[in-house]
Amino acid sequence: MADFTDNKSAEQPINGFKPLSNVDGFPLPTTGDDLSRLSDRVDYTMANGIPMDEDDDDDEEVDEDYVAVDQDDLNNEFPYWFRRPPMHQRTKLDELHPFVQVLTVSNVDDCVSVESAFPEQERCSREKFIYRLNRCPELCLGLFTLPIVGEDQPKPRATLVGHIVATRTSTAFVTDKSMDLPANWQTERMTVENGEAVGHDEYGSTIAIHSLAVLPEHQGKQVGSTLMKSYIQRIREAQIADRISIIVHDHLVSYYESFGFENRGPSKCQFGGGGWTNMMLEFIE
Ligand SMILES: CC(C)(COP(=O)(O)OP(=O)(O)OC[C@H]1O[C@@H](n2cnc3c(N)ncnc32)[C@H](O)[C@@H]1OP(=O)(O)O)[C@@H](O)C(=O)NCCC(=O)NCCS
Repeated sequence: MADFTDNKSAEQPINGFKPLSNVDGFPLPTTGDDLSRLSDRVDYTMANGIPMDEDDDDDEEVDEDYVAVDQDDLNNEFPYWFRRPPMHQRTKLDELHPFVQVLTVSNVDDCVSVESAFPEQERCSREKFIYRLNRCPELCLGLFTLPIVGEDQPKPRATLVGHIVATRTSTAFVTDKSMDLPANWQTERMTVENGEAVGHDEYGSTIAIHSLAVLPEHQGKQVGSTLMKSYIQRIREAQIADRISIIVHDHLVSYYESFGFENRGPSKCQFGGGGWTNMMLEFIE
């Protein structure tokens, strides 16, 4: 059997046939079995272009399981179909059968429950969830878990395990005003005080994240990281903002740096008692 491991030998005829090749100079791993099948099918095609003697047709026997493959279909994808799937160690996140979905106002109760991850003074109120999920649900993302049940059992409701809730602001960083609830949001489209919008500013190019939280019993399972990576990817690809900003406590600075946020120093926010650091992820160069 000829050696097909180098390009030179790939050009040499075998039993009168040019060897199979997916692209010029890169031979497919031809096996003895391949060659015998090729020999059986020489009446169909001859790679060297010389037609066979027609008398040979009578001797043809075709394997029942033989399927003719158009060589053009193989191209460079040939090795893909023969690759084994990558080994994947199941994680605690896999066990949740998670899926990520934009939140709606129907998730207010779920968000209130997830928000219990924060100390009381740092929690977003129920009224603020109603406001934010009404005004800008497209900026709010949830990671849900849906247990797998038998076909005969009723489909369970998905449980919200973690959420990101945000609004837009025209300032570069999260401010106390951007975190506030405008008193008359149900009747007024926008409230401005001292030149700055209160709450969601639909013209703002900064997305201000007010909450990233994970149910305490599901923390440490990569829920927060998965959610944040998914969020950043969605915003980046949709090109709907220049940056994402968030205020964090010092012990989480490195956590946010791992997603690409930069430490921009102390925040002026006094929400929840203050002591925050500005983190920013810029999309514009
Ligand atoms: C912070 C939070 C969102 C992280 O979500 P999570 O799903 O638990 O985190 P992940 O499993 O994705 O990532 C784990 C990593 O986060 C970091 N981390 C999480 N909580 C942390 C904490 N309290 N202090 C320091 N690092 C922390 C660590 O680097 C940790 O890595 P490790 O498991 O190797 O120690 C979650 O713990 C939470 O809801 N906390 C309470 C609310 C809060 O503080 N939110 C952040 C607002 S800025």
